[in-house]
Amino acid sequence: MLILGLNMFHADASAAIVLDGEVKFAIAEERLNRHKHFGGFPALAVKACLDYVGARISDVEHVAVGQDSDANLAKKVQYALANPAKILNFIRLRHRKEAMRDVRSLLSKALNIDSSQLRFQEHHLEHHIAHIASAYYCSPWDKAAGFSYDGSGDFVSTMMARCEGNEIEVLDRVFLPHSLGSVYTMICEFIGYTQYGDEGKVMGLAPYGKETYRDEIRRIVAEKNGGFELDLSYFKPLGSNQGMQVLPDGTVRLARHFSEGMEKLFGQPRSPHAEITQRDMDLAFALQQRFEDVFFYLLNQLHDRVPFDSLALAGGCALNSVGNGKLFDHTPFRCTYIQPAAGDEGLAIGAALHTYHSVLQQPGRHELKNSYLGPEFSESRIRSALLNAGLQYRQMERNALLDEVAERIAAGDVVGWFQGRMEWGPRALGNRSIVAHPGLPNMKDVLNARIKHREWFRPFAPSILADYQHEYFEHDHPSPFMLHVYKIRSEKRKALCAVNHIDNTGRLQTVAREENPLYYDLISAFHRKTGIPVILNTSFNENEPIVCTPEEAIDCFQRTRMDVLAIGPFMALKAGENADMLAASSVRRTSGL
Ligand SMILES: [Fe+2]
Repeated sequence: MLILGLNMFHADASAAIVLDGEVKFAIAEERLNRHKHFGGFPALAVKACLDYVGARISDVEHVAVGQDSDANLAKKVQYALANPAKILNFIRLRHRKEAMRDVRSLLSKALNIDSSQLRFQEHHLEHHIAHIASAYYCSPWDKAAGFSYDGSGDFVSTMMARCEGNEIEVLDRVFLPHSLGSVYTMICEFIGYTQYGDEGKVMGLAPYGKETYRDEIRRIVAEKNGGFELDLSYFKPLGSNQGMQVLPDGTVRLARHFSEGMEKLFGQPRSPHAEITQRDMDLAFALQQRFEDVFFYLLNQLHDRVPFDSLALAGGCALNSVGNGKLFDHTPFRCTYIQPAAGDEGLAIGAALHTYHSVLQQPGRHELKNSYLGPEFSESRIRSALLNAGLQYRQMERNALLDEVAERIAAGDVVGWFQGRMEWGPRALGNRSIVAHPGLPNMKDVLNARIKHREWFRPFAPSILADYQHEYFEHDHPSPFMLHVYKIRSEKRKALCAVNHIDNTGRLQTVAREENPLYYDLISAFHRKTGIPVILNTSFNENEPIVCTPEEAIDCFQRTRMDVLAIGPFMALKAGENADMLAASSVRRTSGL
């Protein structure tokens, strides 16, 4: 049975294909059309899904969309009536959404096929149920508490559920305008981070701040009756677009969230390129702390009603890896499953799996153990790309390649590492990664100056052999998708200085050999040379979606100052460098700016 899942006309549009209950392929449209956070129709992603399983759209029996504009309609109408200025906009948007619901026409147009050949049944699933489904049905559990939170989706910001067997029973919803995601976005905007997806930057800034604004932030968001409530005087009224607009070209744009109330309380907002002041850092600190407090409060409420050890966690706010890492100390939950695409691209998987398990009542479960659900490329395609780019390269045996790359990393080189199937979700997890030494004091500056050009306060992340996690980190719950931040043990902070954040934490990826043998063996080779079972891992890109194809990887390699590109079985250097160096078994160079 073939099910196509879609997230469309929403940020991070995506498609996933599920065959007999197993996710075979999943990809966000941005990786294919190179338009970051693209929010239109995922036509290329759908084609890639079908190509992977060798099917035509006429073979697909069900199409499931992680959005249902009829869900929570009474609440939407109630909100619109209370805000008369928004009614016209509300009606206009509803008309637009009706047009977008015509999945049959959209697919027949995108795939250039007569709609009479389409035989699928169509399903629309409420946004947050799709989020929870994306975590629960990918987990190894047959019962769990389900929790989803984000800015908004189908007029809801937070959902709590009991997940048991094939069913997800919704226990509670928090409706707009009350939204933890909106609070985060609002304060991000106020301190000058105004782009969709900037919340992760502010999470990285938070530990540089102090506890100056604790009381002020408590005024903005407060726990209430098992949920929470915003003081709306600090917010612009949400339009019927729920704070986010998708332009006709698929660009996702945020509406301004903060009101004059914020200026009265904190002074002038920061302009995006102005210097960051202590005020901004203190606001980031207070925001993160308040976010965590409310998150833990909600989880404790959920646990009272669903007293299981296991938590299936999803939604854009579940990318807050700092909160995820601390929840074990603040709630009774003992294990989490957070699917690698916890944000909105994950809706495609959630909608498809919900159709399979809950709607069609199919038994069995395929745990999603790794994130490698994207495209891969043949050796001949990679070789052609290298030849076309005019790069010097050498083909190597597996062990020789691993040894050489590990040696290069140990010597301070920055290596582009392109292998196998691309990751699903926002993190590079060892197949489309840039890797480097985690223990060189200048490595963060080297990476930023040469390639990434990121804000000075953002940390880089460690990939660690799963067997060594407890030796290096204070928590041992695995973090296979880089979605937990833990304290680094004091005696290991020097060895990991390039990935040790200001608060002595790291957003780790635990690497198990059975999930990615090549990447595991690379870290092992580095471990043998240096005694450190960790490498620095950052995404293979430069201010763009993560590279997908060999050509994009080579282009990124050539336009940045990476030292080495390891792509499939090939190792390449920049044009003009001495190709003989590729053959050297030991290269000792000190990397500089
Ligand atoms: Fe969402």
